[in-house]
Amino acid sequence: MCGIIGYVGKNDATNVLIKGLHRLEYRGYDSAGIALITQNDIFLRKVAGRVNELAQTIEVSVPQSNVGIAHTRWATHGVPNDVNAHPHTDCKNRFAVVHNGIIENYRTLKKFLEEKNHKFISDTDSEVIPHLIEEFYNGDMMAAVKKSCSYLEGTYGLVIISLDCPDRIIVARMGSPLVIGKGKDEYIAASDLAAIISHTDQVIYLKDGEIAEVEKDHVKIDRRDVGLITPEIEHVTLTLEQIERGGYDHFMLKEICEQPVILRDTIRGRLNYDDGIARLNGIADYTERLRDADRIIIVACGTSWHAALIGEYMIESLAGIPVEVEYGSEFRYRKPVLNKRTVCIVVSQSGETADTLAALREAKRHGVSVLGICNVVGSTIARETDAGIYIHAGPEIGVASTKAFLAQIMTFALLSLLLGRLRRLSIDEGRIIIEAIKRIPDELSDLLECLPQQIKEIAMTFKDHKNFLYLGRGYNFPVALEGALKLKEISYIHAEGYPAAEMKHGPIALIDKDMPVVVIAIKDAIYDKVLSNIEEIRARYGIVIAVCSEGDTDLKKYVDHAICVPYTIDPLYPLLTVLPLQLLAYYIADFKGLDVDKPRNLAKSVTVE
Ligand code: F6R
Repeated sequence: MCGIIGYVGKNDATNVLIKGLHRLEYRGYDSAGIALITQNDIFLRKVAGRVNELAQTIEVSVPQSNVGIAHTRWATHGVPNDVNAHPHTDCKNRFAVVHNGIIENYRTLKKFLEEKNHKFISDTDSEVIPHLIEEFYNGDMMAAVKKSCSYLEGTYGLVIISLDCPDRIIVARMGSPLVIGKGKDEYIAASDLAAIISHTDQVIYLKDGEIAEVEKDHVKIDRRDVGLITPEIEHVTLTLEQIERGGYDHFMLKEICEQPVILRDTIRGRLNYDDGIARLNGIADYTERLRDADRIIIVACGTSWHAALIGEYMIESLAGIPVEVEYGSEFRYRKPVLNKRTVCIVVSQSGETADTLAALREAKRHGVSVLGICNVVGSTIARETDAGIYIHAGPEIGVASTKAFLAQIMTFALLSLLLGRLRRLSIDEGRIIIEAIKRIPDELSDLLECLPQQIKEIAMTFKDHKNFLYLGRGYNFPVALEGALKLKEISYIHAEGYPAAEMKHGPIALIDKDMPVVVIAIKDAIYDKVLSNIEEIRARYGIVIAVCSEGDTDLKKYVDHAICVPYTIDPLYPLLTVLPLQLLAYYIADFKGLDVDKPRNLAKSVTVE
């Protein structure tokens, strides 16, 4: 959740750390702090607020240093204020720690440490860590960190500095991501690559249970129960430009506009027109197991869960395999009925979502094959699944997920095509799907040319409304959920998504002349039914904003605003119908003057339970 970074090397640590924090800010941004090794002590500054405020605070007073750590926070324990901000230190300010994760047994540890006269000043769980190190330090820093970690229950990514070892940082991981970048005479450790790639493309992914001692020209890794191991250096291909805004006002808008390109990347090399089938090398060894599965369980959270629902509809209708979709947070605590013929698929943009990861591990404990649909290469979920498909959406920085959603849906389309062809679709049916898939990127490009102006006008009209309803049926029901989620997240307007026909079982009571209802009413198999739902709204003076099929002149007469999308085959409609909903949420939030890329209370990667 939080962003952490540490630096040791020939350059000015403050500069590297502040720049890195800016890149990590999407992970959390309610407070920030920095600790630097100076000649005689540890320089420490922490502020409630954003990284910019931290940078301004230290501008004039910061000492020269080549070793330091920094943190941008998303509060879990303790309100966002200066004291609760990281880094945290021990009683004598000899050790400073930045932590990402949650220490579940911190109350017990705090009591244990207080009995030994340690003084705590914050309400955080993290503060126990420097005090544990202080308690166990006996001249050997690695040993003290190792022993402290053995006391911790929960999750952590840690970067630690100590006055006694002023030439190094110590990095430890259990359940929270950590990458170490190797530069020339410098190392940078951070929660993700965004803070590293402007320095180097050589990285070491730290694994759970590993602790690294990092000096400017040397790294030593100790793995729990194994001892010292040789670090594996990997080469990453991500460019800095890929994670910068590229002239757009917000990352979210950039990412919406990138969607045609992204989908070309998602399908590149994966369609075989001659055989009317998709090729997914990442899961090649598991294709038969999937084909013969008696049940597929898809686990995800948030927007990825909505993509999973669309995946369920696709797999069931094209391949005829029963599918269930579960929230990671529910699955992990249920007693799911699983057998050898069940296959689990976990879907996650970040590959780090704690609930999804826990569900993955739970499924594995039951001996089930677990496949991943992930965006972030090398993420924990990508590494822990038996096999998987990367969606190739590139770095998604805007907190509200957009392009990853489309790439996940497209990935499900490829998977359903593959399984469908292995089970019941003919070559010709497969080819029809492939043709439709190939048309989608251009159709999205065309929509991105013509929709923004119309949607800006609608957004201006409705930006001050307090409630919205979103309705859709079939493949477009999850799109309604996603449209409502996007609006809630970034504009703070209350919105609910429903299957259109469910409206009459309750939500219809909300409809009056002030209630905008966004209805996805494209000419698919259940178009006429949705028209009846629109009539029901109109009969109660509700305002209808319809997402409809191009050329549907009849519908235009019945609704207040009609946003048209081109025809495609039913399973692929969500790829087109969600675009106007993403833009609507974006422009409403922008017109309200809100911080689109960093909505309040949210974080990009939810690595806590
Ligand atoms: C919504 C959003 C979240 C994420 C959810 C899961 O815009 O981004 O709902 O979809 O936190 O995240 P991942 O996909 O990274 O597991």
